[in-house]
Amino acid sequence: MSKDKDKDKDKYKEKDKDKGRDKDSNKATGELLERIEKRLVGIGARQDEICARLERLETGRGQAGVSPDALASFLDQFRAGEALGEASLGAWIAVSDLACVKGGLRTVQQREGMHARLLEARMKELGATPSFQIPDSVQEKVMADAADPGKPDARKVADFCARFPDIDAALKPIHDMVAKLDADPETQFLLQTIAQDERSTLEFFQQANELLSS
Ligand SMILES: [Fe+2]
Repeated sequence: MSKDKDKDKDKYKEKDKDKGRDKDSNKATGELLERIEKRLVGIGARQDEICARLERLETGRGQAGVSPDALASFLDQFRAGEALGEASLGAWIAVSDLACVKGGLRTVQQREGMHARLLEARMKELGATPSFQIPDSVQEKVMADAADPGKPDARKVADFCARFPDIDAALKPIHDMVAKLDADPETQFLLQTIAQDERSTLEFFQQANELLSS
């Protein structure tokens, strides 16, 4: 009799375990689907951009182009932002309190520095001189926030994601410029591939934020 009871108890325990496993698996599936959905939205946006470019090439219409001054100004401001990104990420890495965040930041920091150097080099090739300076007050604020040891990584990551909640919207200014550069394919694809790096960076922050807030 007691053996039967024990068997029943074991059965219930197994059922509970199964329920727990089902719950974990449902959560993982949900997260995976959410990630796939986000990726599909990104692919859709890039497809639209490629179609628009093909149409411009086929019809010869809509080639808005961009003046050399406007392009130099865009590259210069982008360069300055990337250089500040490299410096501020260095300050953050020095006080990082989470190994998983720190590992990603190290890659992101290298990308930012590389972008700043590539943009500066391209500007010079186009005959322009880098001169744009981000206002001191902005630089000081960004650096102080990144270097703040009292602000945990989870909060810094959450703040970053709050500033860039939509990856496609964040990358739109770069893609808009790319669309105007059919006459300068070297700068066009320099920016296109930098935008791909920036997408990886934004995805890293979003994934870290999901992980840290779950
Ligand atoms: Fe960047």
